[in-house]
Amino acid sequence: MSDAYTEIDAYFERNFLRTDEVLEKISTSSADSGLVPHAVTRLQAAFLALLLKMIGARRVLEIGCLGGYSAVAMARALPPGGTVLTTEIDARTAQIAQANIEAAGYADRITLEVGPAMATLEREIAKHSVFDFVFIDADKTNHKNYLAGALKLTRPGSLIVADNIVRGGGVLETQSEDNSIKGVREMIAYASTLKTVEMTALQTVGEKGYDGMALFRVTE
Ligand code: DHB
Ligand code: MG
Repeated sequence: MSDAYTEIDAYFERNFLRTDEVLEKISTSSADSGLVPHAVTRLQAAFLALLLKMIGARRVLEIGCLGGYSAVAMARALPPGGTVLTTEIDARTAQIAQANIEAAGYADRITLEVGPAMATLEREIAKHSVFDFVFIDADKTNHKNYLAGALKLTRPGSLIVADNIVRGGGVLETQSEDNSIKGVREMIAYASTLKTVEMTALQTVGEKGYDGMALFRVTE
């Protein structure tokens, strides 16, 4: 069945998306450099870009850069002057991402910080920074902490998207020893207590298998 999902993704890509040399190059370079194949898919990147345009986002925070694929996809969806601040904990991965971002021609709009995302979050919170959109896509062990941080860095109307909340169905395993599943479940339990967001979840299938995203719209 997952082969069918991949073929259907390819079918939608062929029909809905144009050839995208910039993102293609980042995909190839990331794979050639041995990065894990965890970047968002082309269709998901287009989904993020649509969300950014729908809310008129100008300032984006990404938690978890990997090879820079989603950062570039999001930077392109911003109006002139729009910026993406993104974080990557692994120095070698960050080098690859920075090279990808530069080759794509987005180094002026994307700031990549190397180090733990929480350090960036804490500094931005101390600066009272405000973002229109936050994409949470780093280690799932800290999913809840990233959401809590994102809520301090947003305003009413801001949108927060958290990736990988289904994990092949693992999210239902209450006794899981998998730290990523535990982290996602913690985030969901925390989200259930929030009074200041409207939220929903999308289960997804496609070339990355069975997973999903949570969407949070900040209301106050
Ligand atoms: C994993 C992480 C991701 O961000 C993703 O999109 C898919 C998988 C992982 O850590 O397994
Ligand atoms: Mg992800």
